[in-house]
Amino acid sequence: MRLERTRQAEHLGSVTVFGVRRVLELDSGPKNPQLNEAADVQKIEREAIDEIEKKLAIVLPVKDEDLKVFEGVLSAIPHECFIIVLSNSQREGVDTFRAERDILGRFCQSTRRQAMIVHQKDPAVAKALLDAGYPEIVGNDKLIRNGKSEGMILGIILAKLLAKEYVGFIDTDNYIPGAALEYVKHYAAAFSLSKTPFSMARIQWRYKPKIMGELYFKKWGRVSEITNKHLNNLLSAMGKFETEVIKTGNAGEHAMSLALAERLTYGTGYAVETQEIISILEQFTGILPVANKDVSEKGLEVYQTETVNPHLHADKGDEHVVLEMMMPSLSVIYHSPLCQDKTKEAILRELTEVGCIKHGEEPPKVRLMPPPQKLDMPKFSASLAAEMSKLFVPEGSPSPITQSRVIGPAQKVVFTDLDGTLLHPSTYTYAPALDSLRRLQSLNIPIVFCSSKTRAEQIELRQELSINDPFIVENGSAIFIPKDYFHLPFSYDRIANDYQGIELGMGYEVLKLKLAAILETVRAKLLDNVWAGSLSVRAFGDISVEDVARETGLGLKAAAAAKQREYSETLKIHGSRQAVEYLLNEVKKSGLSYAFGGRFYTITGGNDKGKAVKVLTELYKLNRGQVYTVGIGDSENDAKMLAAVDRPILVQNRELRWAKFKLPSLNFARGVGPEGWNNALASL
Ligand code: GDP
Ligand code: CO
Repeated sequence: MRLERTRQAEHLGSVTVFGVRRVLELDSGPKNPQLNEAADVQKIEREAIDEIEKKLAIVLPVKDEDLKVFEGVLSAIPHECFIIVLSNSQREGVDTFRAERDILGRFCQSTRRQAMIVHQKDPAVAKALLDAGYPEIVGNDKLIRNGKSEGMILGIILAKLLAKEYVGFIDTDNYIPGAALEYVKHYAAAFSLSKTPFSMARIQWRYKPKIMGELYFKKWGRVSEITNKHLNNLLSAMGKFETEVIKTGNAGEHAMSLALAERLTYGTGYAVETQEIISILEQFTGILPVANKDVSEKGLEVYQTETVNPHLHADKGDEHVVLEMMMPSLSVIYHSPLCQDKTKEAILRELTEVGCIKHGEEPPKVRLMPPPQKLDMPKFSASLAAEMSKLFVPEGSPSPITQSRVIGPAQKVVFTDLDGTLLHPSTYTYAPALDSLRRLQSLNIPIVFCSSKTRAEQIELRQELSINDPFIVENGSAIFIPKDYFHLPFSYDRIANDYQGIELGMGYEVLKLKLAAILETVRAKLLDNVWAGSLSVRAFGDISVEDVARETGLGLKAAAAAKQREYSETLKIHGSRQAVEYLLNEVKKSGLSYAFGGRFYTITGGNDKGKAVKVLTELYKLNRGQVYTVGIGDSENDAKMLAAVDRPILVQNRELRWAKFKLPSLNFARGVGPEGWNNALASL
């Protein structure tokens, strides 16, 4: 697609609103690196659009629309987009909802796709919302209230449940399927241009008044014109500059990144689209206290584009209805704490003139619905679990949430050891691995640390490398999963920082007691002269940070992190061969396990890296469908991890050799530590 480049943009705090861009070419052909683009043209490659469409859910609100028109819109939604139909159509008497479901089912059957269809009055869905702490769109009758905006909010929640990154809306009363297809292309183009995770795409319709008859478009045009005028007034007063940048105050056709969608406050009825802009201005321009640091750091972008297809939809309203549409839009502007007196006065004048309100009256406040972010997603999906399969078509097809994704390749997951693998055995550097690491990240392939290092140590490294995937600590003792990482609920043992922890190992305190008892027996034997020699055991838990630093060669900060053990103890053991052997044997006999890393022994409560990898792999399968696991390590200590993955890889140790152990289909990467890592994963 080729768009006109826009020079117009208004910046308010972290919010950027771009002027309307026109489409120059809907399809710009294949990539051509030889070709220089004209300065005022922005080319968005097909591949970039394809990539976004895979992550985009299209929500189709429908209420008793002409079924032929509905079917036309379906046929226009690009194959890779996931369709969510949100219906509030009648079910009593003529069951229109059933007809919609049949049409969608047949459509999906013959186009080999899957879709979701939900009735707004499905009691199970309302119950799930209540269970998950989002009662604001549920009425006294324990059902979701009527209204397109209530449906939209549910659409946002379902898109998030499906782990989509973007959500777009398209009305189903659109007579021109080509226009609906174009909207999706606009959404995808905007998101591929966007430089922040918080972005919105709004569409300005192209009217064709001459073909369509004056009256209808004059009416619609008037409502949006008036809304835009007052929104721009508000913006002008805020930024102390005159602006007319907003042209899409009432844009029903729009899309958002889910990260943004879940943070906005929504207005009911016809106020919804205007309120989105108001919510952005209120929360993120910094004029009122900033609601979210993440957004203010990364920025928020609003794109506006004008279509080439005309917009032609069902004309339900007469002049009177049009006036009723104007009121809620202006009301949310009027009642915003951002709205200054001059804009307020102008709105009152407008509404009195057309007879919506009387002199001295204010527009009634519109009901606002809080950011969907507050909904507890694991509770929502747990509550809906029994009904889930009924919400998908074609009937009987595996639900994409609970079953492997039929369509699309397996999700790859990389499990990696740290010391000696991602980190160089002597210098601890990861630099040689960065090329492959960044490539994995750009492909959204999870990188899961699986090491003897502690939670504190791993968090540090994850932050340094911007890795946000789960991680396995202290030799498989526990798995930590970032909150909201998986959309399906799972049972976990603790919450630490922002992670849900699954504990497989023994807690540090219990482990300590067991170890003390073992040492006591061993020392007694020693005193009794059962064998000759001496034994000295130093536990990291018992010595100072300075001593750990001296022993390991780590800096003080790193030594402190290494000392924060929650499930294992590191021992430095000196003594005669017999004494050491006796001790290790006692450790094993008591159900604990030990691993020797060259200088120190790590004692754990009988867990291993392999078990943890298996548990986490199951979670990936449950949430992401088919997965293909890769494991990469350097030593005997990684054997069980490597045995638990589809593709085990061994890097070279500092002697330029590969550790010796038997594993069928083991792959040998050339290069020590991070260099081997880089080589092995370059081909993935
Ligand atoms: P207009 O196009 O802005 O005049 O508003 P419409 O009444 O045509 O509605 C826009 C879209 O929302 C259409 O696709 C309707 O079928 C749909 N719609 C209207 N009311 C509801 C509702 O209560 N729930 C849902 N889910 N959709 C609705
Ligand atoms: Co309509």
